[in-house]
Amino acid sequence: MLEQIVILDFGSQYTQVIARRIRECNVYSTILRYDTPAAEIAKLSPKGIILSGGPSSVYSPEAPLPDPKVFKLGVPMLGICFGLQLLAHFLKGKVERGQKREYGKGTLTVKDDSCPLFRGLPAALQVWNSHGDKLTKLPDGFHPVAATENSDYAAIENRAKHFYGLQFHPEVAHTPHGRELISNFVHEICGCGKNWTMRNYVQQAVEEIRREVGKEKVILGLSGGVDSSVAAALLHEAIGDQLTCIFVNNGLLRANEAEVVRKVFGRHFHIKLQYEEASKVFLTKLKGVTDPERKRKIIGKTFIEVFQAATKRAGAAKFLAQGTLYPDVIESVPIGGNPAAMIKSHHNVGGLPKNMKFKLIEPLKCLFKDEVRLLGLELGLPKEIVYRQPFPGPGLAVRILGEVTPSRCSILRNADAIVVEEMKATDWYYKIWQSFAVLLPVRSVGVMGDERTYDYTIAIRAVESQDGMTADWVKLPYDLLERLSSRIINEVKGVNRVCLDISSKPPATIEWE
Ligand code: XMP
Repeated sequence: MLEQIVILDFGSQYTQVIARRIRECNVYSTILRYDTPAAEIAKLSPKGIILSGGPSSVYSPEAPLPDPKVFKLGVPMLGICFGLQLLAHFLKGKVERGQKREYGKGTLTVKDDSCPLFRGLPAALQVWNSHGDKLTKLPDGFHPVAATENSDYAAIENRAKHFYGLQFHPEVAHTPHGRELISNFVHEICGCGKNWTMRNYVQQAVEEIRREVGKEKVILGLSGGVDSSVAAALLHEAIGDQLTCIFVNNGLLRANEAEVVRKVFGRHFHIKLQYEEASKVFLTKLKGVTDPERKRKIIGKTFIEVFQAATKRAGAAKFLAQGTLYPDVIESVPIGGNPAAMIKSHHNVGGLPKNMKFKLIEPLKCLFKDEVRLLGLELGLPKEIVYRQPFPGPGLAVRILGEVTPSRCSILRNADAIVVEEMKATDWYYKIWQSFAVLLPVRSVGVMGDERTYDYTIAIRAVESQDGMTADWVKLPYDLLERLSSRIINEVKGVNRVCLDISSKPPATIEWE
């Protein structure tokens, strides 16, 4: 069985970050709900358990509490923040409301440098705090190993039992040595090897897919985005011609998009690719429609119709593959949990109806996005696809305000191609979350040569973001902006003005719609 660390999630906004940090140490990690029975956890034979932080107080009646038997599994444990307080609470220490909330940067002084958690680390380190309650009495068998300005018990241990607690957050970037702390926990304390690599994952996933699929056929909707592309490459590695990929051209794609997919998947990988030319169908249905929500609905519904018809033509298949990722399948903890998960749902246009008669196969469902990219590289996908910026399912339609017409699509496609080209040439494309052009359906007056023009405006949107939930506009260099503006106005017929969007999200959104 794959060595793994189990993280019990008590509703911290950083739980997934903990999981990713562990995996960056080449150790597999699984996030489970805080109240998962100890017997269930034991079945996974974890090499260690991490109790995440969380917004509650251990004494609150609504506090999420673990199965007390987890402390008896005989497995090394690390409690982070609220997790440390849980250790204290269950092992008969004492937690009290802090006089003041400790929030932000602090300096940690290591008092006992023999503690394996701090092996190889300096005696003083910067850490990130975010907690109200405070440990005031250590549980039996524990002793303090490090202190901050406000707490003598910022790091504690019971070395004999392999129980450790940190009052601060080692998983966040504001704790610069946090990665080493986590690495020390998983390698030195839990004794994990470095087995979680994408090379190993390919082997393991290929075997699993072959076992699951047998001799049956699999269909995959390929969008050209990172997730479906990597899923396609992985499935193809496992089952070759039993896989058929369906690519729908909805007429709302960017320049070259269809061509890249055909080149990479059809000609390079020799994947069975069924290309569905449906531009006319989509654009006809979008005629005269200006309301953004209606546009999305029409596109979503049309996609399903086109895709369903395409699957019939593809022949009998038992499985439908989807590029679902781990963050989509982790059961969220409602207590102070991240409401962002709900905001996301409106983006699931292009999702397929539940009543399709396929069995689902989701070969990426235990991977984080950064792992999917590494897997893509491992499978030989080009950088162009692996590091592609997110592109919404409804495509250019959400970037053309007002009615979507073939000529507006063409104007935006040409302008967008220049943005992509210049961003890639300067490498900015790969440094930021998204950069694209938006077509505003207002015309304004300009002059070109001796002629008066009356043309559209293009807005340039370039944002930095971790997950698309919040975003900041990017301060692109003036010379790059100048090139974008002059190239778009000179090369794209129908545009005589270029603006830069300097709004952050919130209150604006990334797409204009
Ligand atoms: P907003 O505009 O809500 O976008 O700030 C947040 C992120 O989601 C992407 N987005 C979509 N992705 N289907 C998708 O797959 C969609 O319908 C969709 N709409 C927006 C957007 O590009 C940004 O990265």
